[in-house]
Amino acid sequence: MPESRCLQGIWSSPWIFIFAASGSAVGLGNIWKFPYVLGQNGGGAFLLVYCLCLLLVGLPVLMAEVALGRTVRSNPIDTVNDLSERHILHSGWVFVPWLAGVTGFLILTFYSVIAGWSLAYLDRAVSGEFVGITQEAAYRMFDTLLATPAEMLLWHTIFMALVILTVGQSVTRGLSAVVKILLPVLVVTLILLASYSMLIGNSAEALNFMFRWSWQDVSFDVILAAVGLALFSLSVGMGAMFAYGAYMSKRMSIARACTIVVGVDLLVAILAGLVIFPLVFSFNIDVEAGPSLTFVSLPIIFGNLLGGQFFAGVFFVLLVVAALTSAISMLELFVAWLHERFSMTRLKAAVFMGIAVWFVGIAVLLSFNHWDNKLLLGLNVFELLDSMTSLVLLPVGAILLSIMVAWFIPHSMLQNEMITKQANHFQWWYKTLKFISIPAMVVITLAGWIGG
Ligand code: PFF
Repeated sequence: MPESRCLQGIWSSPWIFIFAASGSAVGLGNIWKFPYVLGQNGGGAFLLVYCLCLLLVGLPVLMAEVALGRTVRSNPIDTVNDLSERHILHSGWVFVPWLAGVTGFLILTFYSVIAGWSLAYLDRAVSGEFVGITQEAAYRMFDTLLATPAEMLLWHTIFMALVILTVGQSVTRGLSAVVKILLPVLVVTLILLASYSMLIGNSAEALNFMFRWSWQDVSFDVILAAVGLALFSLSVGMGAMFAYGAYMSKRMSIARACTIVVGVDLLVAILAGLVIFPLVFSFNIDVEAGPSLTFVSLPIIFGNLLGGQFFAGVFFVLLVVAALTSAISMLELFVAWLHERFSMTRLKAAVFMGIAVWFVGIAVLLSFNHWDNKLLLGLNVFELLDSMTSLVLLPVGAILLSIMVAWFIPHSMLQNEMITKQANHFQWWYKTLKFISIPAMVVITLAGWIGG
């Protein structure tokens, strides 16, 4: 990519990268996925392993992606092609960004369906359907939605249209301005809801579940789930952060920016847990319920809250916007590549990719009803895509990307990028990536596969 073209896209304020990257990281992964994966993996032990994974795997890999993106200032596919033309990398490494793009694409096919559920719940929230809702009615509401593919298709289509229109614009425009407002409002809303939920729910058991742990609860399955979720939640291993790194100003310390993004991401996930689990325990909702957990618990909270209709409306708008700012980063890799490589307009590229995602998404939404039959290994289309991306494609993508950065990109090229006022950041990051993150990811992923 010509230098002049990319330079126009550089975000002027260092904070813009932090907002955009946090917008990608914070989404359904924090509010929908984190609570149910925590529920399925025993609570406290999972949270502890998850924090370690964020710190020792997620953060170093995130820094690697951002550093590489900022070094070359191009989309990931052209970056690797460019480095191979300059004989820095073997051309075979182009497999890594392709894998990343395909992973983001596949994640978006089910992410959009779940975001569609959030839109459906926004609709129910503002029409007052949560008011005074009982536990049985909350279950029924969710089951009815799953049993109505036409409604799911409508919301999935609306969400994908929003994604296409947003990605079709330049990524620099508007995104960080939206996230700048979204994040603080989301955090404050979650704090209010968590306080309320702790007040009316079984807070003692929720805190016990979330924060108490013992070594016996730490299995390879728990560790593999934690690595998968950490990568998913930070949007790493998919080239999304790589693409945002390409827009990042040189003035910003990569270590500092990425640490802030990880902190915000963890904070939102823990707050979401504190909203959901007190209710789960006081209403005897099955903690291992899986993907339905958030969508069954939330209406009960709002249904019993004074002004619940208003809060529910605000909350689901925030959830949809958070999902949108994440979803756009999943398409960014291919859209940027089609735009830069083939001079396709961003909108055309977004329509092209978005329609393909929309099609596969139809198979996903049918897997909750007509196509509920198990396809492969006892999993339906949704479960297959979810497990394949979180347990296979994301870890493999992150491992390959990290090996490429840590072992094959010249040390000096990265060092220039990573240098900050505290130069020891570089050594800390480089050694952690090489000697902790990569071996840990390889061992955990292989052990999880063999054990699973
Ligand atoms: N990090 C997002 C979330 O937690 O909801 C999900 C995500 C965004 C995954 C971007 C992948 C991606 F490329």
